[in-house]
Amino acid sequence: MTPEIEIRDWQGGDLLWFRFWLQKEHRWHRLDAPYQPPMSDEEADELVEEIANWLVTPPLPFASRMVISLSDGEPIGTVCRYRWESDRTTTYVGIALYDPELWGQGIGRKALVAWIELLKAGYLELNRICLSTWTGNTAMVRVARHLGFKEFTRVTEAYECGGFKYDRVSLELTIR
Ligand SMILES: CC(C)(COP(=O)(O)OP(=O)(O)OC[C@H]1O[C@@H](n2cnc3c(N)ncnc32)[C@H](O)[C@@H]1OP(=O)(O)O)[C@@H](O)C(=O)NCCC(=O)NCCS
Repeated sequence: MTPEIEIRDWQGGDLLWFRFWLQKEHRWHRLDAPYQPPMSDEEADELVEEIANWLVTPPLPFASRMVISLSDGEPIGTVCRYRWESDRTTTYVGIALYDPELWGQGIGRKALVAWIELLKAGYLELNRICLSTWTGNTAMVRVARHLGFKEFTRVTEAYECGGFKYDRVSLELTIR
């Protein structure tokens, strides 16, 4: 059975946990975007510092990256939002569950549903949610399609990884 999860604000105790999972050697990087190098130690430190600042001055209505936790508060991943288009009615989203032991249990699907609900409630002008991934990330593509995302852009053979070529796919969900 899929565990209960929640999307929550950052807590002080999450910072070391997050910094640990940003280290290059973790497997999730290879599923997330194997065609680009994981962030450097300096970039990782900067990101964690930025998040530490949110603990003092929380962004409104909520941060561009939030924590996925189990119901007892234990952090297991993050969700994020970012804009590629100046259009305020569209946002892109991302998701990562860092420990591969947690993959394939329906958590990603549940967390993405919860993130979309938060975004819908927090940004009333939003009517389109997009995500971009690569065809090697079968789990991400399946989660998105299950939630009703439809492909709107495909760049054929955009990435090469382990001797194979993969497409870049962008999917969109109309929410209002
Ligand atoms: C991508 C990710 C969020 C998916 O979350 P998850 O909890 O593993 O996904 P779910 O269990 O909700 O669903 C996965 C679906 O993909 C399928 N799947 C998983 N791995 C698969 C594989 N290697 N081959 C084929 N299908 C696979 C599952 O069967 C399931 O489909 P179903 O519901 O039709 O049975 C998670 O694996 C993750 O965080 N990965 C690392 C970071 C990352 O890649 N982020 C996305 C960047 S765009």
